[in-house]
Amino acid sequence: MSSHVRSAFRSMTLKKTVARPEDLFEKELLWAWLESAQLGMCLLNATGELLSANAVLAEQFAIPQEMLFGASFERLGKHIVADAELMKWAVTPDADGKRSHVFQRDYKRVDLSIQATTLRYHSGERFRVLAVTDETLLKRAQLIADLDRSSRQWEALNAGVVISDALRPDMPIIYVNSVFERMSGYSAAEVVGRNCRFLQGAETDQPDLPQLRDAIKREVNGHALLRNYRKDGSIFFNELFVSPVRNDAGVVTQFIGVQHLRSSR
Ligand SMILES: Cc1cc2nc3c(=O)[nH]c(=O)nc-3n(C[C@H](O)[C@H](O)[C@H](O)COP(=O)(O)O)c2cc1C
Repeated sequence: MSSHVRSAFRSMTLKKTVARPEDLFEKELLWAWLESAQLGMCLLNATGELLSANAVLAEQFAIPQEMLFGASFERLGKHIVADAELMKWAVTPDADGKRSHVFQRDYKRVDLSIQATTLRYHSGERFRVLAVTDETLLKRAQLIADLDRSSRQWEALNAGVVISDALRPDMPIIYVNSVFERMSGYSAAEVVGRNCRFLQGAETDQPDLPQLRDAIKREVNGHALLRNYRKDGSIFFNELFVSPVRNDAGVVTQFIGVQHLRSSR
């Protein structure tokens, strides 16, 4: 945690309270817990003002962390999530429980869930803890973990595996296995975030591309034999199968591509 974030937190939490050492300790402890959480977490006072928010939450809201201190959660959330009723519930003391909401942000689908709990400081002052989760991201992480575990089978088949994120513009790669790395000469770090078409170099009007494009657009299985280029500039023939992956609601969240090295057409 950077020192300016810590000092913003201190001035926020201490400005209205008489700082008894035990109260200070309690808040510092809470803060340390919040910062180490893997979920987006924040503390609100009884009027719904953000006392503190961790770095994960700031990233979810795409707002610098220190700007969240002292902000109104309701106003902030209403602007982003566009559900006034959900935001009103989130800041209402003692209205505890879990609520979910699906919305669109920057052309991405977000499966938001908020777990709210009202607690009391030792001094009796009430505060509210919100744990904010983007379920879509969790599922994406789960899928990658599952694939990583089963990647030994793909290794045995000597097939390259690529997953692209269907919820982000231009479907960037989010995972490649080591066979793909060997086949293409690119490391995972070099390709994550890019669309797979970069492997075609300048040859973007190949015979099989229209049907592949069409399958991806219609969200069905597709097949193509493509001329691709390795990192060292050498050509290889890539027999590609792509399949959409749907979530429980039937929305296509990823595409899986399986690549086989072919010697020639
Ligand atoms: C999961 C997945 C894997 C893909 N793998 C490759 C690949 O290895 N090589 C390639 O040339 N194109 C690959 N593509 C196809 C391109 O990403 C792109 O869909 C294709 O070039 C047609 O779209 P475009 O006209 O926008 O380029 C893959 C697509 C998906 C969805």
